[in-house]
Amino acid sequence: MTQANDTAPASPPYVIDVMISAKSIAARIEDLAKTIQSEFKDTDKLVVVGLLRGSFVFIADLVRELDLPVEVDFLEASSYGDGMESSREVRILKDLRGQIEGRDVLVVEDIVDTGHTLHQVIDMLNTRKPARLRSIALLDKPSRREVDMKADWTGFEIPDEFVVGYGIDYAQRNRNLPFIGKVRFT
Ligand code: IMP
Ligand code: MG
Repeated sequence: MTQANDTAPASPPYVIDVMISAKSIAARIEDLAKTIQSEFKDTDKLVVVGLLRGSFVFIADLVRELDLPVEVDFLEASSYGDGMESSREVRILKDLRGQIEGRDVLVVEDIVDTGHTLHQVIDMLNTRKPARLRSIALLDKPSRREVDMKADWTGFEIPDEFVVGYGIDYAQRNRNLPFIGKVRFT
């Protein structure tokens, strides 16, 4: 089935070069989990919020390294165009199922690029009065930033390259690659 936004050709005129191996990702997540565990060691029950869809692999691996009581919830946000591109407005497509007032919350994102998505999601979640709200991103492209935003913890800083894999797509393809790869057009 073809979707409107599904623009990647079936036989892609691009190749994917490994940028971060599955092994390096796993090692980094072990470290990040230790940091998060000490930050939230006194928590009652941490609400780990994955931003759909790109964070689904990262959140799955991350929560399995956490020796803490956790609850998992998801939020889908989408920046949208149609002439409003420059406003970089972020829409909530799917909201959380649970309440976060008075709770400890960790937002899990795949990539911080311009920063608009994470910035607006955090602003919106803060209006719900969580006790503590922190964020983690697997990848960060600091050279692309348009708003002053940084996740509290970052897996890897990367250059301005288009990446796929480990949950991250190019027009809905390549999410299932076990590594982070760089798209190279041929
Ligand atoms: P931001 O609002 O510009 O920070 O948008 C971040 C979102 O853009 C990420 O959650 C990804 O969904 C998407 N994105 C940014 N860079 C890439 C990339 O290199 N590959 C695929 N998606 C990307
Ligand atoms: Mg995303």
